Amino acid sequence: NNYVLIMAGGVGSRFWPKSRNHFPKQFLDILGTGRSLLQITYERFLKLCPASHIFIVTNSQYSDLVLEQLDGISPEQLICEPSRNNTAPCVAYAAFKLAALNPEANLVVAPSDHFIQYEAIFVEKILTALTYTAQHEALVTLGISPTRPDTGYGYIQYGQESEKGIYKVEKFREKPNLSTAMEYLKEGNYLWNAGIFIWKAKSIIHALKKHASSIHDLFESGNAYYNHPEERDFIDKKYPTAPNISIDYAIMEQADNIFTIPADFGWSDLGTWASLHESADKDGSGNVISAKQINLKETQNSIIQINSDKLAVIRGLDNFIVVDDGNALLIYPKDQEQEIKEVVKTMAETY
Ligand code: GDD
Ligand code: MG
Repeated sequence: NNYVLIMAGGVGSRFWPKSRNHFPKQFLDILGTGRSLLQITYERFLKLCPASHIFIVTNSQYSDLVLEQLDGISPEQLICEPSRNNTAPCVAYAAFKLAALNPEANLVVAPSDHFIQYEAIFVEKILTALTYTAQHEALVTLGISPTRPDTGYGYIQYGQESEKGIYKVEKFREKPNLSTAMEYLKEGNYLWNAGIFIWKAKSIIHALKKHASSIHDLFESGNAYYNHPEERDFIDKKYPTAPNISIDYAIMEQADNIFTIPADFGWSDLGTWASLHESADKDGSGNVISAKQINLKETQNSIIQINSDKLAVIRGLDNFIVVDDGNALLIYPKDQEQEIKEVVKTMAETY
């Protein structure tokens, strides 16, 4: 009954200008391994279940890209969204569709853009979670020990141990502001939400009914169509009317049946330039540099990517992001990078 659902429909705007609307970061070889983040994610899950149990949920715009990149995935394993409404509608649609396929479906819902160093531990933790969710109406998330007051993550306050290694969540708080994040770090009983969720399709459907009833009702009204020819028409018409909200705000902050498995498997979210900077190899001054020709002086803790033959001359930068890519150039203070997403929102689609 185990299935994996990889969410691959984000635009990765905090990774602009390398990540673009027409080619978001999950399809890019961000780590320089020759494989895209999506390919790495998919191959990791092949250690958990057969390819036929892996589904990819993405915007219709990217369906060809997904099929091109993932050899073992057939068009029936693509769940296509006609519009961008964030992860709550995306998870809801997929849960209803998979529940129609198998009412006992037990799901791992995962992002397509993370790096995980110790895959064996990762697989072991996921299996523990799947065993738990098969038996309980629980929403399980993997928790990572926080290392800095990052405002780009969800924070999990955990309480009593319910079963070995599985803790009841007291409170879930998505993307707190900096002072709140600092407090959480000081209090100590907080973990970062890894953004990897484990639950039965029917458990998340039940939670949607309780906490996001308009999303629930919208997708429930399509129950007669899932996995039938009428599905496309129904989704194309109804999906865009769903509220635009992430699963973290819609469900994780509201539900009282959340559990977490603290896990340490060398996780990093390659969500932003600073996160890539943190996980990449640095030079003696803490810089991560990728450029064909560069003359660099008095520069530290910066990430610099010149994706062309240009000669770059740089002096005196501390804690900056410099990315030259095609028709765009970004120069931004690294500790204000969460704003990049907002800046990208104000720009024309061609950027
Ligand atoms: N199919 C689909 N449709 N996928 C989407 C959509 C959508 O509308 N929006 C985002 N995604 C995908 C992204 O591609 C990514 O793989 C995943 O869903 C998560 O979305 P992000 O936009 O990257 O979320 P986030 O990083 O801001 O926050 C989430 O992840 C953090 C850890 O990385 C939250 O779950 C946080 O609580 C968590 O800490
Ligand atoms: Mg992310």
